[in-house]
Amino acid sequence: MITLKSAHEIDLMRRAGKITAAARALAGEMVRPGVTTQEIDHAVEHFIRKQGAVPSFLHYHGYPASACISVNDEVIHGIPGKRVLQEGDIVSVDVGAYIGGFHGDCAATFACGQISKEAQDLIDVTRQSFFEGIKFAKEGYRLQDISAAIQSYAESHGCSIVREYVGHGVGAEMHESPEIPNYGHPGRGPRLLRGMTLAIEPMVNAGSAAIKLMPDGWTVRTLDGKWAAHYENTVLITDGEPEILTAPAI
Ligand code: MF3
Ligand code: CO
Repeated sequence: MITLKSAHEIDLMRRAGKITAAARALAGEMVRPGVTTQEIDHAVEHFIRKQGAVPSFLHYHGYPASACISVNDEVIHGIPGKRVLQEGDIVSVDVGAYIGGFHGDCAATFACGQISKEAQDLIDVTRQSFFEGIKFAKEGYRLQDISAAIQSYAESHGCSIVREYVGHGVGAEMHESPEIPNYGHPGRGPRLLRGMTLAIEPMVNAGSAAIKLMPDGWTVRTLDGKWAAHYENTVLITDGEPEILTAPAI
């Protein structure tokens, strides 16, 4: 069952979304050589709590931190720790905040100092694949119209789409129905209706799509060691343009 949010619930999700987006921005500003991923995680947690919200990820299925921070060939779910960021790294930060009974969920990949053109291209393709996808995030389209647009943009730019992890509905629960693959076929999947709130999150590899799970049970890396990027927003379906509930403030 895909939940449809009422006008009041949408207002609550806007509040959760704003805090989540601000936490992502704060993390992005902290990405620079010499900073540890743990320092970023602690700042994210402090910020979310100061807003009166709770970090959605902390203790979720035993996850030990407030942010997922994934560096270079780490795709998603990197656990923050003592790793010191280096010039040239690319750093994916995923955050969630829960307030008023609802979650916001968003992510982005940030450059640490000067990065290679290949790395910047990967970041740009990943982010743009999200915006290509949400051209179809409107009442009347079908879910895989979004999926197919993301896939076709990323693959036509020489990148590959991770299959094992997908986007999702989001609301009172961080992971709600439906699953939102970043690959698929136009015209398939459930019809989109106003009031659906979806976390759309392309995970894009520069090399092959294959991934492996690390022994920590969380960190997902590319199998070939090439780099990966991630971009995610919580999006409200309307009868017109989608509303990005985790839109950056500027
Ligand atoms: N933000 C992730 C997602 O989009 C969830 C993180 S998993 C957690 O689904 F365990 F870290 F919470
Ligand atoms: Co998500």
